Amino acid sequence: MNHANVGRGILRYGWWSRVNHWIVALCFVLLALSGLALFHPVFFGFTGLFGGPIPTRIVHPFIGVLMVVFFAIQAVRFFGDNRIRRHDIQWLRQIRDVLSNRDERLPPVGKNNAGQKLVYWIFLFSVPVLLLSGLVIWRPYFADDMPRQLLRWAAMIHAYAAFVAILTLIIHVYSAIWVKGSIRAMTRGRVSRAWARHHHSLWYEEVVRGERPDEDIREPLPERPPRNRP
Ligand code: HEM
Repeated sequence: MNHANVGRGILRYGWWSRVNHWIVALCFVLLALSGLALFHPVFFGFTGLFGGPIPTRIVHPFIGVLMVVFFAIQAVRFFGDNRIRRHDIQWLRQIRDVLSNRDERLPPVGKNNAGQKLVYWIFLFSVPVLLLSGLVIWRPYFADDMPRQLLRWAAMIHAYAAFVAILTLIIHVYSAIWVKGSIRAMTRGRVSRAWARHHHSLWYEEVVRGERPDEDIREPLPERPPRNRP
């Protein structure tokens, strides 16, 4: 994109959505690193990032609660755009076309494609599971009052849910890098008309029809006529 056009285009994520998302992302990465460090000796080295093994154990659940708060806000705000529609099923059926970059064969999609929606729903299920199972095993606040059997189950469920969430995050980050222009949407907020039309045509049409007043279009600056050289 032309440098003069930075800050132009269609607003995909407003400033709060972006700040909210990156707080969740940062917390999540810190949780994964500290959680893995507590989970298996192979990852013990990660405790160095948090000031040693004891601070890692103390800080992990507090970051978890912080993430849950911001995740909840994000989940509510993004709910509407992640409801599964009929064209999403068709998009999933054509997953081979998606993976082979045969975009022209895919059905038109709204603000999020079915893959993004699945990521949303997997996080929406795994985060509460992580929270509840994490609360049960949280020493010294709750764990001491819990029956031994429940503690065992909670620790196991916590580890499985973390595995699912981390795997989902890897897929999420990989797709964000794969679809060029996505990262920009979550850092600067705006995408070009061409990007919107190509990847999310139903959303683009809604924006053009003025059905999404918050997601305004700022037209690119007209090209400057070349200066006459003296
Ligand atoms: C840590 C690295 C992360 C990176 C690099 C990243 C990157 C991105 C990018 C580029 C988008 C915009 C995609 C688009 O609109 O086309 C996005 C959207 C989104 N991200 Fe992330 N993200 C990260 C972590 C997370 C985490 C930890 C969560 C939740 C637990 C999350 C949840 C979402 C959601 C819900 C959306 C909106 C699209 C959708 O509903 O799927 N992200 N992310």
